[in-house]
Amino acid sequence: MHRHIDRLSIARRHFWIFNRWLGLQMAFVGILFSTGTGAILLLSKSIIDPSLLGFSISFSMGFSKAIFSAVNEFGILETCMDSADTIIRYSEMEPEDQGGAEMSHDWPSSGEIRVERLNVAYSDNTPLVLRDITFTVGGGTRIGIVGRTGAGKSSLALSLLRLLEPQSGSIYTDGIDISTIKLQTLRSRIAFIPQDPVLFSGTVRSNLDYFKHVSDDKLEEALRAVGLASKDCDDTPGSFTLGSSITAGGTNMSQGQRQLLCLARVLIRNPKIIILDEATSAVDDKTDLIIQNTIRNAFHGTLIVVAHRLRTIASFDQVMVMNDCKIAEIGSPAELMKARGLFYDLVQDSQDRDMLISTL
Ligand SMILES: Nc1ncnc2c1ncn2[C@@H]1O[C@H](COP(=O)(O)OP(=O)(O)O)[C@@H](O)[C@H]1O
Ligand SMILES: [Mg+2]
Repeated sequence: MHRHIDRLSIARRHFWIFNRWLGLQMAFVGILFSTGTGAILLLSKSIIDPSLLGFSISFSMGFSKAIFSAVNEFGILETCMDSADTIIRYSEMEPEDQGGAEMSHDWPSSGEIRVERLNVAYSDNTPLVLRDITFTVGGGTRIGIVGRTGAGKSSLALSLLRLLEPQSGSIYTDGIDISTIKLQTLRSRIAFIPQDPVLFSGTVRSNLDYFKHVSDDKLEEALRAVGLASKDCDDTPGSFTLGSSITAGGTNMSQGQRQLLCLARVLIRNPKIIILDEATSAVDDKTDLIIQNTIRNAFHGTLIVVAHRLRTIASFDQVMVMNDCKIAEIGSPAELMKARGLFYDLVQDSQDRDMLISTL
């Protein structure tokens, strides 16, 4: 509250300082004008009637007041029009197309993803962030995506959910072009954990299962699986129960805890396709290991993991290395190690080098 009051006071203070400064200047202009008028009237008092003279002087004194309020009102109009401008811009914002085909309940049944010659840009006048991407992920395959920061890994993940619309090329999930599917259906069938997850104000329960479709037991089990639940039902710090409250944006949790809660949400829904975008980047190694094991045991669908720890994907079926908006290498981790390309270099630079070399 104090922070907000301070911010308001700062804005107000500046507003009034400028307002008074303007008033002072206008008063000076007014004084000059009245003095000038007075001087001219005095010089010509022989030809002007004294009553008319008094009348003119009192009128000229009102001038400064009038000019000040004109400038002031114009300033207020400008400020208000700024707000109108924002509202108009929001009302003209184009909503995403909500149309498209409704899919049957069991879609996607196998979880196969095929991407063909995909070109993606954030807007029409920015350069492509994905160039000519073609690959296929079989149903139930676990694929890791690695590459330097800015290589386009997150953009690829966003494209699979149509959060970015392709400029050309197509993505097929279970043989169906996702651009023909209703957005809400598509996004409800694929689980996605972004790099920086968002939570809503409410409780842990409302964030896990807003519509209350799932039993408490199952929710608690998921919380335990990601290591967020307290062991003996008391309020130890760093642990949560279903009733724990969450502030807007999840600001009362650390980023790692938010990622864990999103993982719990995924475990409950058990979808056919999961996309994790560096979902455990803010989680310690030990917790990460527990989560990876949990996912491995609990989940048998297609898993796409943008990984920042190479050890996470060492046991995966496939690895895709992205470089400069393109796929540089794709294959099993052991194959890529043999090829001595980019993946090999990444392994050499990694902290877990010895562990990786011994397992691959
Ligand atoms: N919101 C955005 N608007 C425009 N360009 C973006 C945006 N987000 C990312 N980019 C660009 O896309 C490229 C790939 O980014 P990203 O997919 O986030 O990389 P990664 O996840 O591999 O680090 C970057 O070069 C970046 O400049
Ligand atoms: Mg990223």
